[in-house]
Amino acid sequence: MNLKLEAAREALKAVRSGDRLGLGTGSTAEELVKLLGAALAEGALRDIRCTCTSQRTEALAVSLGIPCFTLNELAPLDLAIDGADEIDAQLRLIKGRGGALLREKIVEQSAARFIVIADDSKIVEKLGVGVLPVEVTPFACEVLLRKLAEFQPVQRGTFVTDEGNVILDVRVPETMDIADAVARIREHAGVIDTGFFPTEASEAIIAGAAGVRRLKRKT
Ligand code: 5RP
Repeated sequence: MNLKLEAAREALKAVRSGDRLGLGTGSTAEELVKLLGAALAEGALRDIRCTCTSQRTEALAVSLGIPCFTLNELAPLDLAIDGADEIDAQLRLIKGRGGALLREKIVEQSAARFIVIADDSKIVEKLGVGVLPVEVTPFACEVLLRKLAEFQPVQRGTFVTDEGNVILDVRVPETMDIADAVARIREHAGVIDTGFFPTEASEAIIAGAAGVRRLKRKT
């Protein structure tokens, strides 16, 4: 079973004709984009206007005939749908292992509702099982590699983000809360943002072998 597709299929049910929609980045978000393209082609949905969190997603959306606009043209958005790398019980996320964290955070903070879609391998007890991506300006990259030494930063090869920045993948020390780590990291000029999304997600649709379940943000 393609669990990413199952999560995307469930999320598509939340899309209404006329919506201004933010489209995420990554393999799970791409399943949603393909389903959306098919729904528009067969007339099941109409008048959807989208903005994309990456050039990669936009290229796919445009190839499927999905109307795409700049965020400026569409904001505020009705809904954003995107994947995640790690999700905890409080619906806090780590995102950005696909390199699109900055545009993702901007788009998702511009949406009235943000639905995360994922397979159940993304659920973690404590965020930071894997790396935390940090987007930094190229000018500061070498200096930040030294200043952030306690977080074991590794530059992500020659990767350049859609915003022209570079990514440092860091490790959150076992003994440190991720929010504290992010606050420390963000003190440094040159850090643009991190892949920690503490409050953005409204709900998550998680697909597993036993079916699809929803996590809702507790208010
Ligand atoms: C991209 C992201 C993705 O949403 C995240 O990496 C999940 O990707 P996938 O759906 O391929 O597992 O944050 O920057």
